[in-house]
Amino acid sequence: MMKRWQAVKRLLPLMAMFALVLSGCGREDLSVMRPQGPVAQGQLDLIKLSISIMIVVMVVVFAIAAYVLVKFRRRKGNNEIPEQVEGNHKLEIIWTAIPLLLVLVLAVPTIQKVFAYGESDWNNPDALKVEVTSHQFWWEFYYPDQDVRTGQELIIPVGKKISFQLKTNDVLHSFWVPSLGGKMDTNAEGSVNYLTLVADKADTYIGKCAELCGQSHGFMEFRVKAVDDATFDRWVTAMKAPAVLPADNALAEKFKTNCLSCHAVGDQGGSAGPNLTGMGSRETVASILLNDISGKPGTKPVKDNMIEWLMEPQAVKPGNTMPNPKDLGFSDEEIEQLADYLANYKLDY
Ligand code: CUA
Repeated sequence: MMKRWQAVKRLLPLMAMFALVLSGCGREDLSVMRPQGPVAQGQLDLIKLSISIMIVVMVVVFAIAAYVLVKFRRRKGNNEIPEQVEGNHKLEIIWTAIPLLLVLVLAVPTIQKVFAYGESDWNNPDALKVEVTSHQFWWEFYYPDQDVRTGQELIIPVGKKISFQLKTNDVLHSFWVPSLGGKMDTNAEGSVNYLTLVADKADTYIGKCAELCGQSHGFMEFRVKAVDDATFDRWVTAMKAPAVLPADNALAEKFKTNCLSCHAVGDQGGSAGPNLTGMGSRETVASILLNDISGKPGTKPVKDNMIEWLMEPQAVKPGNTMPNPKDLGFSDEEIEQLADYLANYKLDY
């Protein structure tokens, strides 16, 4: 009894460590166990089906093994060699047929779903097209039919098929919104992938890069906001409105020359960096500094996050390609003004 307790005591810290390590997997909004759309639901159903079959097989096999071990164990004084048997037709048929049946039960829905989810909806007139381009370390989203480009925050209508065309601008990344469905790589060298997802409910879902792609891979997140049709249309209209520039003329000029060479606001600027239209309405700055517009704990005002980012982008997202605004000649005061301008650049939708 004493010995057994000591073994348990020795195992306790190990168990505690496992609990701690596994709790890291518990970020609810990044769980495939909470499907929020038909694709994710179908994939979870497959996971459940295969795990159930495995559990049944394991229990039956272990039970038979335990029974045989106990029943036919060698007893005291039992020294003769047991009867030697070879081959048993009935048993052989049973243990061939059962696994065959189980594999069939698993294969039929798996093949059905793999082919259904592999189907591209790019030419489906009922689907909304979004071109996804991954960059180190941010996401670009372009809606070809609406001619709208945004970054880091994807807005989609609820209940509609969203057909994603996935490409990369540099290295291999992987596009993953756990609540909506499985991941899909963005391949280098011109190969293009397609993926269709649907969101059932209006909510914000977290997306992540699921392929180790460099120093800030772990910070390469994005948000997916599912909204009703009318809200989506208002968002498109708001995105296409003329650019709002900083009110101060000198700052506006400096912003245009230095920032709009890569970024865009409204109808002005480039697309080498994330589009900044409506920064003040977004849930994050640089996808990882959480803004308080979501009302969640641990969030900060957009302006504070914007200042943190602009003062030292490398400290927030190491290895990113954004130049430090100070190296471009922005003073601390101008950075604060810039942060104020961007935090107040809101989209009405
Ligand atoms: Cu991009 Cu990991």
